[in-house]
Amino acid sequence: MIDRNLPSARIAGVGSYLPERILTNFDLERIVETSDEWITERTGIKQRHIVAEGEALVDIVEHAGKAAMADAQVDPADIDLLVLATATVDQPIPASSAIAQPRLGIHNAACFDISAACSGFTYALNVARQFIATGEAKNVLVVGAECLTRYVDWTDRKTCVLFGDGAAAVVLQPAESGDGILQLQWRTDGTMSDIISMPGGGCRFPPHSIESIEQRLPFIKMRGNETFKVAVRALTNLSKSVLDAEGITTEDLDLFIPHQANLRIIQAVGKRLQLRDEQVFTNVQRVGNTSAASIPLAMVDAIKEGRLKRGDLVLASAFGGGLTWASVLFRY
Ligand code: ACO
Repeated sequence: MIDRNLPSARIAGVGSYLPERILTNFDLERIVETSDEWITERTGIKQRHIVAEGEALVDIVEHAGKAAMADAQVDPADIDLLVLATATVDQPIPASSAIAQPRLGIHNAACFDISAACSGFTYALNVARQFIATGEAKNVLVVGAECLTRYVDWTDRKTCVLFGDGAAAVVLQPAESGDGILQLQWRTDGTMSDIISMPGGGCRFPPHSIESIEQRLPFIKMRGNETFKVAVRALTNLSKSVLDAEGITTEDLDLFIPHQANLRIIQAVGKRLQLRDEQVFTNVQRVGNTSAASIPLAMVDAIKEGRLKRGDLVLASAFGGGLTWASVLFRY
């Protein structure tokens, strides 16, 4: 719950980047036993962008971060904090935000990564806005970026058809009360941490261990059907809780930007929240599930399409591995 007596944080600029290479459902038909029909019907996804050979997370972070700073008309030298939300780091040490820092031209800022899977961007937003609220930061670059296609098992049709790569960023600055982030609530339930996980590649099963290799552990695993049910319930309840805290209803919203994992989840949540179709933004059809990049990528696309304008009241709700979820109400 946000303390209204503390300064608020507003989104001063946005930027995004999608790798050039596109993988369609028809391309996937040649990789695993699947079909465009199945993927479209079950997920709504038609295509996703994937990083090229030699391209990695920090490369796409650089493009998105620079675009957001340019949009906010902020000199990289004035950024005093960089928070990168990602579950797909380039390497365990150092943090990907530290590798990205010089490439972004940022040199007066502390940098760190946040790992909260698909809720990563909303978690990063909550952390970043607190540094603005306390006065410790004036310009924060918050990036959500993911190269999930480097971590999917291309022999597992239950997961490899779902994910895409991408990066998007916002610059947060202090705002007048009643502007910017108005309400943000977040949750974690680690009792269901095994529903979405990458069991290998860390301390328990190092990447080079026999178990990791034989059981294909350093890849994303997901029990999709269970995830689906929990996601619908969690996204609906937390979205309602945020609106209740502000004493408003979905009627008051200009736009709802849900995590873009699956069109059917989005439609189910939209129905339960009694949102009209035109209030709900989707781009999952073109980009797939880009995890931590999903919500800021959707924001940028909504702006480009004229669906999100300055002054609009927006609710964005995310759900992902952890399990984690979060819902943020902001005036853009
Ligand atoms: N092509 C063809 N058939 C497939 C494919 C595929 N790509 N994938 C699964 N199937 C089959 C299954 O094998 C199964 O066949 P069976 O009945 O013979 O065993 C059948 O389709 C149904 O499988 P389900 O998993 O029950 O299908 P469901 O309708 O649940 O759709 C999906 C699966 C798309 C994964 C869905 O459950 C979903 O979107 N879940 C939520 C994902 C999500 O929200 N993730 C959140 C965050 S992710 C993160 O944090 C990184």
